[in-house]
Parts: sequence; C-alpha cells; structure tokens
Amino acid sequence: MKIGVIGAGNIGSALAGHFRRLGHSVLITNSRGRESLSQVAQETGATPVDISETARRVDLLVIAIPMKSVPSLPKDLLSGLPASSPIVDTGNYYPLRDGAIPEIESGMIESEWTSRVLGRPVIKAFNSIVADSLLHQALRRGSKGRIALPVSGDDLKSKQRVMALVDKMGFDVIDAGPLSESWRYQPGTPAYCPDPTIDQLPVLLRRAIRDKAPCNRDQAAKIMAKLPLDFSPQELVRVARLSAGLDTWKPKSWIAVCCIWVSRLCGLNVAPLVRQGTSYLSNSGQNHDETESPRTLCSCPFPYSAHRSDAGNICKSNPGRQRSPRRQSGDRAGHEAVSRRDPRS
Ligand SMILES: NC(=O)c1ccc[n+]([C@@H]2O[C@H](COP(=O)([O-])OP(=O)(O)OC[C@H]3O[C@@H](n4cnc5c(N)ncnc54)[C@H](OP(=O)(O)O)[C@@H]3O)[C@@H](O)[C@H]2O)c1
Repeated sequence: MKIGVIGAGNIGSALAGHFRRLGHSVLITNSRGRESLSQVAQETGATPVDISETARRVDLLVIAIPMKSVPSLPKDLLSGLPASSPIVDTGNYYPLRDGAIPEIESGMIESEWTSRVLGRPVIKAFNSIVADSLLHQALRRGSKGRIALPVSGDDLKSKQRVMALVDKMGFDVIDAGPLSESWRYQPGTPAYCPDPTIDQLPVLLRRAIRDKAPCNRDQAAKIMAKLPLDFSPQELVRVARLSAGLDTWKPKSWIAVCCIWVSRLCGLNVAPLVRQGTSYLSNSGQNHDETESPRTLCSCPFPYSAHRSDAGNICKSNPGRQRSPRRQSGDRAGHEAVSRRDPRS
C-alpha cells in the first residue's frame, strides 16, 4: 500500500515505522515542511513530503496531529485522495492543549468532529494506546498478553482494511462499531490506554460512562502536568490498568501509583529508583517492558505546553532528539488515568 501520514511526532513516526517494516511505501509530513524531517526519515524509512502531496493518490491516510490543528489543514488537501482510501483519525481531545472546541464541549464525539471538519468519513484507531506501547509492545498473533486495539467507523470495508493493518503491526483488534460508538475509548474512559488484551477490551468498552469521561480526563491531566518530564510511560500505563480494574493485585501497580504521588510531591521522577528497589518484588510486568529501549519515545506524559520543560526543548529521555521550539503540542498523556484513586470515580 501507499500510505500518507500527516504528523511526524510520537504517533505519526511510530506508525510510519511500523508501516515501513510491513513493506508499505510511506509519505510523511508535518507543519514545517520536508526539510525538517530528515531525522524522522532516517529513523522510520518514510519519505518526507510537503503536506499538499501527502494525500495524493494514497491507499490510506493517517491524521496524527493535535486536534486543534485539524481545521488549519489545507482545504484542498483531500482533493487527490481516492474515495475508497480510508482516513484514520488518531486524535484525542485535550482542552488544555487544543483549547476548548465548543462542539465537543457540548457532547460531539471527537472523531465525528474531525470527520465534519475534513468533510470525509474517518476510521478511529490508534488513539487509545500510548506511543511508547505502540512502538515497543507489538507481539506476534497468538502471543500471550498481546495488546488489543479498538477500531470504529461507518464504512465496513475501510474499517476492515484498517483492522487488518493493526493485526499485521502486532496488535489484536476488535470492531468497536460505528463512529458514534467511538466515544467509548476517548480520553477518560476505562479502555483508554491500559494496554488491554482481547478478552479485557470488550469489557472495558462496555464499562465506559460518557458523562464522566471529560471530568476524568481533565482530573488526570492536572495530575500529569505536575509529573517530572522523564516519567516513564509504562509506569503510567500500569496505573491506567489499575484504574481500569486490571492488575489490581499486582504490587507493581500500586508501587506505580506511589511513584506518581511521590514524584508529583517532590517533582523528581522516583520511579526508576523504586523500580530498582522493588524489581525482585514480583516479575509480573504483563506485556509491560520494564526497561526502556534506546529508541524510546519521549516519556513526557503531557502536552508540552503545560510542562515546565520548554527551556531545553530537548527531551530528557531521548537526548538525541532535538525538539523544535514550535512543537508545543503532543500528548503523551495517553496514559493519563492516574491517581491514587481512579479520578474517574
Ligand atoms: N503521544 C501519544 O502517546 C498519543 C497516543 C495516542 C494518540 N495521540 C494523538 O495523536 C495526535 C498527535 O500526537 P503526538 O503525540 O504524535 O503529537 P506530537 O508528538 O506533538 O506531533 C505532532 C505532529 O503534528 C504535526 N503538526 C501539527 N500541526 C500540523 C499541521 N497543521 N499540519 C501538519 N502537521 C502538523 C507536528 O509538526 P511540527 O513539528 O512541524 O509542528 C508534529 O509532527 C494527537 O491528537 C494525540 O492526541 C497521541
């Protein structure tokens, strides 16, 4: 397939790398133009292009940019995109980063808003997994603890094509129904970023409470904003699992919660220290990799604009990766459901 990826940040580059590994040709772009994408091209094997070329005659298009940026996409961007080519929406709405979007604030489903702005149907996928897990937790089909992802949309053929891709990338996948049901894995819901298995995911989707999600999301976002930059995404996923009612009896789940509260209070990332100290406690770590591989994406769990780290513009956990001053967004808050007690309760 020829795949276009708009957005070359955490999610866009993680997906581009996966698609390249599957042998697809990948065009990738960002807001600053192809010249700024040499490192991403080197790391992913994708071809940097200017935004106007990304959707031209591709078989599948991925939108991996902050939701606030969707309206600023060129109006004729999709004129060259065949009607049969699915558009994948990976977006999550964070008022703190995106500013208040009135339609969504009054209840519109995030991907329905994106579809309306684009003027084309979309398939919602890859929004409910943190970039770090997307990059490092892919497993062969049939493997124990393989992470399952929900995919939803109104066009069955398009949805099935995306679901087949998810499976080939290394994740189990379930049909989460029409786009009108995609709220069940928006930020603030149980199915948002706990890296569930194929048995756990349907239960979590059913447990979603629509009215509670925005409050849960914002509560957790406030907690995230106070966490040290280099807080590990896998620690946050561990707490998201706990909040979703998974791993309740795993000591490391509660240790991760403690780490968050102590780190918040003292502003230092105590997780690595605690991890070393307790590593013998249990080797549970179900499909959670304790050690971060050198390719680990920036572990900052929250939109940069809300973090205290602007000065360096360099991501502590990935010193080789220079962050452009313009890049103010990007939410690693995928793993945002964190608090001692589930903020959504
Ligand atoms: N990070 C995660 O773990 C995660 C997980 C699931 C879903 N998501 C969702 O995925 C989306 C992207 O998040 P991210 O973490 O990948 O963000 P990110 O790391 O900040 O990357 C954002 C990318 O979008 C590009 N961009 C911004 N505005 C654009 C525009 N108008 N036209 C073209 N490109 C534009 C940026 O380009 P410049 O650098 O040139 O500005 C950058 O390459 C968000 O909606 C987020 O909620 C994120």
